[in-house]
Amino acid sequence: MNPNISQIRKDFPILSTIVNEKQLVYLDNAATSQKPIQVINKLTDYYKNTNSNVHRGVHTLSGKATDEFEDVRLKVAKFINAPNYKQMNPIIWTRNTTESINIISMTWANDNLEENDEIVVTAMEHHSNLIPWQRLCKRKKAKLKIFPINNNQELDLKYLDEYINSNTKLVSIVHSSNSMGTINPIKTLIKKAKSVNAKVLIDGAQSVPHMPVDVTDLDCDFLVFSAHKMLGPTGLGILYVKKDILQNLEPHFLGGEMVLDVSYESATWNDIPMKFEAGTPNIADVIAFGSAIDYLNDIGMSKIREHESELTAFALNILDENKYLKNNSTLFGPKNILNRSGVLTFHSDIAHPHDLGTLLDNEGIAVRTGHHCTMPLMKSLGVPATLRASFYIYNTEEEITKFFECYSKSLRFFDNVR
Ligand code: ALA
Repeated sequence: MNPNISQIRKDFPILSTIVNEKQLVYLDNAATSQKPIQVINKLTDYYKNTNSNVHRGVHTLSGKATDEFEDVRLKVAKFINAPNYKQMNPIIWTRNTTESINIISMTWANDNLEENDEIVVTAMEHHSNLIPWQRLCKRKKAKLKIFPINNNQELDLKYLDEYINSNTKLVSIVHSSNSMGTINPIKTLIKKAKSVNAKVLIDGAQSVPHMPVDVTDLDCDFLVFSAHKMLGPTGLGILYVKKDILQNLEPHFLGGEMVLDVSYESATWNDIPMKFEAGTPNIADVIAFGSAIDYLNDIGMSKIREHESELTAFALNILDENKYLKNNSTLFGPKNILNRSGVLTFHSDIAHPHDLGTLLDNEGIAVRTGHHCTMPLMKSLGVPATLRASFYIYNTEEEITKFFECYSKSLRFFDNVR
């Protein structure tokens, strides 16, 4: 285990919270991560000392806010290793991953998709990477293809040539599944997509916070993710667009700051990336997000992945040794630890996940129960919902042990009253 975890935990004030008279065990990181004091302080410091609008004023505070705001854009471009980001920054601020995907569906995809073209998503997509494509394909009379998964909830790569072919215009895929913990072989899919001249969008909401993601190495066309799942504030999303597409991309929102010249009849657009950010942006949260990136960089993304893999291996080992859990609860997702993230999703015939989640909450344990915005996947698995525990850098083996003790206890409780 990473020797600094106890030090790291001290940076997260919420981790010492008492919930229902019990010490909080926070295992709902796939929904949102907790925030270190450095991020919280940066947010309040900004409002106390710098608050001002960006790109607008000649006064000192506006200049300072603009510099800090743009520094974070550079930091994020560097974090995902965007090529030549100093010449043209390819990071666009949005509200969240969902908005980033919707923007691409309404701009680049809307402009380029033709009748009978095909868009490929996977059977494990979050609704946000499914519904925008459903609507667009209906409007354009294009085809939406759902790449199948096998019994381990992994992509079934024997279908690669069938699903990604010369009709494919876009492959839009989740890197790491929010509901199953599956890490998809995106390099293989990107390579195949490139071979048929299709573009690739990677939903990195559950991967960028947890492992190194390098867009230069991946050669994807779009990468989308959210600040709040990686120690940053809520309400801030990131849209990375590759340079050749970005240069010709139409703006999605129109208004102040995204223009160079305006007459009563027409307008010309500002430079990239400001062309894509109409109106006052989410200044404070962007600036606080910079501290989240610093925090992650200080630990190192490979270390974070290593820690979460160790926790996952520890959890799988407990499951393996616990006969009662083995017989009464199904864990979905890949068997191979290399193909899974720190997301563990369970279903049991003994009780509904919501009831189990409520008993766990009584013990101070926060997990998510429900369909995790992947209803088609749940239907294909034949379950209404699952109980999901998801780990991050501050979680410990002790917390996982406590989770399994309370999960078994809750199952036994409902087992006895059946
Ligand atoms: N998409 C987030 C989750 O999986 C909210 O919980």
